[in-house]
Amino acid sequence: MSQIPSALPEAPDSGAADGHSRTVERIGEFGDEDLASLCEATNAAIIEGGGFGWVNPQARTALEMYFRGVLLVPERVLFVGRLDGSIVGSVQLVRPPRNNEAQAFAARLEHSYIAPYARGHGLARLMTLRVEDAARGLGYHLLNLDVRETQEAAIALYESLGYIRWGVHPAYARAGGKTVRGLHYYKVLQPGGRI
Ligand SMILES: CC(C)(COP(=O)(O)OP(=O)(O)OC[C@H]1O[C@@H](n2cnc3c(N)ncnc32)[C@H](O)[C@@H]1OP(=O)(O)O)[C@@H](O)C(=O)NCCC(=O)NCCS
Repeated sequence: MSQIPSALPEAPDSGAADGHSRTVERIGEFGDEDLASLCEATNAAIIEGGGFGWVNPQARTALEMYFRGVLLVPERVLFVGRLDGSIVGSVQLVRPPRNNEAQAFAARLEHSYIAPYARGHGLARLMTLRVEDAARGLGYHLLNLDVRETQEAAIALYESLGYIRWGVHPAYARAGGKTVRGLHYYKVLQPGGRI
């Protein structure tokens, strides 16, 4: 599997069909304003009820430490979505660890969310396609992901993009005192559906 390049090519702006500009970019380091916007978007998504493992909103310092840490993990690639220039969401491409030769052909898409105030502008779709392009460009043949069964918008998004549901985890997550099932998906990335 190829090494991750220091900078992946930027995806073109999707245009501004609804009067908003949308961009998705890989983040290699944070400016103060970008990190603040990312933390604000993350907490807004957590408060609304999903998108991250967190169930409760986090202190700004905890989120900043988390995102700075993500940038240091070699297997993780962080992408952010911008609406009209401001970061409003993120997603991570997670490569398999080096010791996992048996699954070296498959990467994961994790922690995708858009702040509630920026939803419905096509950014999550754009972020997902960007992660797929990056994974394909790095030579991965398959992308795996999982969602809580309550995340209806995400389920509609991934199924519309051709993700195949292969399993249901009966006790996937616990939020608000309730145990929630999880849905597991994969998508073949290489042309012709070759795995
Ligand atoms: C899922 C989520 C990321 C979608 O973000 P978004 O930027 O609003 O999504 P988009 O505008 O790109 O919409 C893409 C598709 O998602 C689906 N979708 C989006 N909002 C939806 C809604 N409220 N109800 C049903 N489907 C919806 C549709 O299929 C939509 O395609 P369409 O516009 O052609 O109908 C966002 O709702 C979110 O952050 N939810 C909580 C976190 C989460 O569930 N993350 C996924 C875990 S990996």
